[in-house]
Amino acid sequence: MSAQMPADKSTDTNNPATQKLPRHVAIIMDGNGRWALKRYLPRVAGHKAGVETVRGALQFCASKGIEVLTLFAFSSENWRRPEKEVGLLMELFMTALGREVKKLHKNNIKVKIIGEKSAFNTRLQKSIHDAEMLTKDNDGLVLVIAANYGGRWDIAQATKIIASQAASGEISLSDVTPELLQTHLSLHDLPEPDLFIRTGGEKRISNFLLWQLAYTELYFTDTLWPDFNDDAFEDALSSFAGRQRRFGRTGEQVLDGA
Ligand code: IPE
Ligand code: IPE
Ligand code: MG
Repeated sequence: MSAQMPADKSTDTNNPATQKLPRHVAIIMDGNGRWALKRYLPRVAGHKAGVETVRGALQFCASKGIEVLTLFAFSSENWRRPEKEVGLLMELFMTALGREVKKLHKNNIKVKIIGEKSAFNTRLQKSIHDAEMLTKDNDGLVLVIAANYGGRWDIAQATKIIASQAASGEISLSDVTPELLQTHLSLHDLPEPDLFIRTGGEKRISNFLLWQLAYTELYFTDTLWPDFNDDAFEDALSSFAGRQRRFGRTGEQVLDGA
């Protein structure tokens, strides 16, 4: 097949329309605490500043035509933090959700929260439910907030569903494939992340989307999350645009549109 005639535009990784702009960006918003400490402020001031950055990132993604933005807000391991910080983070999540949901709805944004929601207090669970219900028919940007989320938990909860189906005879062992497991994971109804960004300098995944990041392009920056502005986001997009995604094939195959 010639380079000019890709077989299928939707899967052609060399097509500028499908390759240059990520459809789905997933971000570990790290560095709030250090941002605050540098200013001799309490850590919570960094989390508050981080909420402002979320607002900017949403606007940026919507203006670019990015389809999905997934944000890691609270990991299943973050319960290990001092009780006071956990409490303040929950409060901040609650007030930000309550305060912003109408605006998100007005901007045609669909909100989805992934993670083990049963660990949250009933008020927060209701807020989450209300935000998801209010925005469920919006067809603009999809905002996924990972809260009390862990990649290992995600795979385990999908496995639990499959195990119970196998035990009841609904499916047989030979039905258990990566494709089946994928259908029970948190982001099953969305495209896989194309670009992963971690701010704050650490180069690790910290139990974020373990399964879903299999072929995601990884981008790490020292910029602390509250400082992650449009220019910083542009830098991440430029880095992404310069990469060749091979999905196991050779570079020559990709150039040939195979
Ligand atoms: C990320 O910032 C926000 C959450 C984990 C909730 P941190 O609070 O981890 O900031 P640093 O890493 O201590 O600077
Ligand atoms: C990852 O950041 C979780 C979130 C940003 C919500 P952490 O700051 O908790 O990660 P570690 O502990 O440094 O790996
Ligand atoms: Mg951190």
